[in-house]
Amino acid sequence: MGKMGSEMLIYVLLLMAGVLASGQSSQVNIWPMPASVSYGHTHLYLTNDFGFSSNYGSEILKDAFDRMLALIKLDHVIDANFSAFNSSSLLQGLHIVISSPNGQLQYGVDESYKLIVPSPEKPAYAHLEAKTVYGALQGLQTFSQLCYFSVTSRVLQIDMSPWTIIDQPRFSYRGLLIDTSRHYLPVPVIKKVIDSMSYAKLNVMHWHIVDTQSFPLEIPSYPKLWDGAYSPSERYTVADAADIVSYAQKRGINVLAEIDVPGHALSWGTGYPSLWPSKDCQQPLDVSNEFTFKVIDGILSDFSKIFNFKFVHLGGDEVNTSCWTTTPRIRNWLKKRGMNESQAYQYFVLRAQNIALSHGYEIINWEETFNDFGNKLSRKTVVHNWLGGGVAQRVVASGLRCIVSNQDKWYLDHLDTPWQEFYANEPVTNITNLKQQKLVIGGEVCMWGETVDGSDIEQTIWPRAAAAAERLWTPFDKLAKNPRDVTGRLAHFRCLLNQRGVAAAPVAGLGRAAPEGPGSCYRQ
Ligand SMILES: *[C@@H]1O[C@H](CO)[C@@H](O)[C@H](O)[C@H]1NC(C)=O
Ligand SMILES: *[C@@H]1O[C@H](CO)[C@@H](O)[C@H](O)[C@H]1NC(C)=O
Ligand SMILES: *[C@@H]1O[C@H](CO)[C@@H](O)[C@H](O)[C@H]1NC(C)=O
Ligand SMILES: *[C@@H]1O[C@H](CO)[C@@H](O)[C@H](O)[C@H]1NC(C)=O
Ligand SMILES: *[C@@H]1O[C@H](CO)[C@@H](O)[C@H](O)[C@H]1NC(C)=O
Repeated sequence: MGKMGSEMLIYVLLLMAGVLASGQSSQVNIWPMPASVSYGHTHLYLTNDFGFSSNYGSEILKDAFDRMLALIKLDHVIDANFSAFNSSSLLQGLHIVISSPNGQLQYGVDESYKLIVPSPEKPAYAHLEAKTVYGALQGLQTFSQLCYFSVTSRVLQIDMSPWTIIDQPRFSYRGLLIDTSRHYLPVPVIKKVIDSMSYAKLNVMHWHIVDTQSFPLEIPSYPKLWDGAYSPSERYTVADAADIVSYAQKRGINVLAEIDVPGHALSWGTGYPSLWPSKDCQQPLDVSNEFTFKVIDGILSDFSKIFNFKFVHLGGDEVNTSCWTTTPRIRNWLKKRGMNESQAYQYFVLRAQNIALSHGYEIINWEETFNDFGNKLSRKTVVHNWLGGGVAQRVVASGLRCIVSNQDKWYLDHLDTPWQEFYANEPVTNITNLKQQKLVIGGEVCMWGETVDGSDIEQTIWPRAAAAAERLWTPFDKLAKNPRDVTGRLAHFRCLLNQRGVAAAPVAGLGRAAPEGPGSCYRQ
């Protein structure tokens, strides 16, 4: 047997371990792995009127509980005869206690929780304690992964009781980028992505709304901007955007809105051609034109009414300034100001930062801004790494915060990056100072949209985003040193995604792979 052959065999064996684990063995099939888990070995059964109670009347919790029950049940018919069960193994409900109930969802909100599923001697209620509603939502996600419909008992069942799970995230920022400029994503598709993010405990949807190719969002201050959409129907109204934000918040997910300036903004000029340097040289945005900054101010003013996350993303990557130096009007403006093109790039980015600050936002910028003039950036900047390794290290050494998305490991559009590399990508690599480690606020996997639309986005995101989600949630010492060791558990999670209607691709292939032939979900 060749090298590939024996690796394949090990892989299949690990996947089979996952299959056994989905039955009776004592494998913990929770994804991402909680900080602390203890369990026993008895079964509990959820009563037909399994209910929810809380010390705190919250619509968000009530909705989440109902969604969770539907997720566990997955349209199975529960036709068991409950009076035939030993009543001391029947679980009647889940009681939730929130200790500081009035927190809004925001960056850094407490997401910790403690979940106790009792032993059969004292059943009746499972208990979930959390400081905030958002911690309780994470606890509900975990609870939903403990329960399943058993074809043997014909009821919703929990194995390995009693459970005690104490959990909290390692990083506060656990993101997924979607790109609605390269392809329009219909609102229901975005909502499905948000749902699936919540299953993996990701908590920031970075919405890269606009780019060179299209401008799909309504901006009331400048109503011709969305003339840059692909077509009249491939657009989002302000009310759509507000609805997406609210939908996400109910699931504990913040929406980070991005306008990428001054590059990646050609589509803005469809509605307002004076934003282009000229008709023949259409980006970056005209740095010499006051109107450019008025439009940015208008957009961010409109944003501040709907996107209430603490941060806004201002892009700043891949700026090719040649249109500024080749357009006579702008060249003269630069000359008059005594600026060369790299100084003009800095001027633009810093001015946009100040506009964002004036609307109450802190700022995220792609790493080129830091690489070119890091010491000039607002101290409220979070630098978003994408080009490669070593950047986070320099950013935090300078005292700024950082989000890690190095393209060689965490770009989902790189279909040849396997889940194992997503899993192994460690955000604080080479950063030993603890204070500096804390400045790495998290990471984000990026689903750039050139080759994804509503037809294939889910299988391109999943299961690889889940591998990164565990890296971002689970304490460092609980992560597998070798991703191979979590293959069975990841396969189990990807099958759970399929059962929940998410088109997650097989674990065994590269990005967006199809099953290679007939077989159980757990072995693919
Ligand atoms: C349900 O189970 C109880 C106790 O085993 C039994 O007495 C009863 O006849 C069963 N009912 C049905 C409809 O099977
Ligand atoms: C019901 O379950 C409890 C706890 O496991 C056990 O002590 C008891 O004997 C069981 N009762 C019956 C009737 O099986
Ligand atoms: C920058 O833009 C100019 C004009 O659009 C183009 O000719 C040139 O190739 C670009 N440079 C790079 C490095 O992409
Ligand atoms: C722009 O000017 C600055 C300050 O004089 C200088 O350091 C930099 O090298 C110049 N950049 C270019 C591209 O000419
Ligand atoms: C960590 O440091 C090593 C040695 O300097 C370097 O080769 C590697 O690229 C660095 N990794 C990251 C992610 O910065």
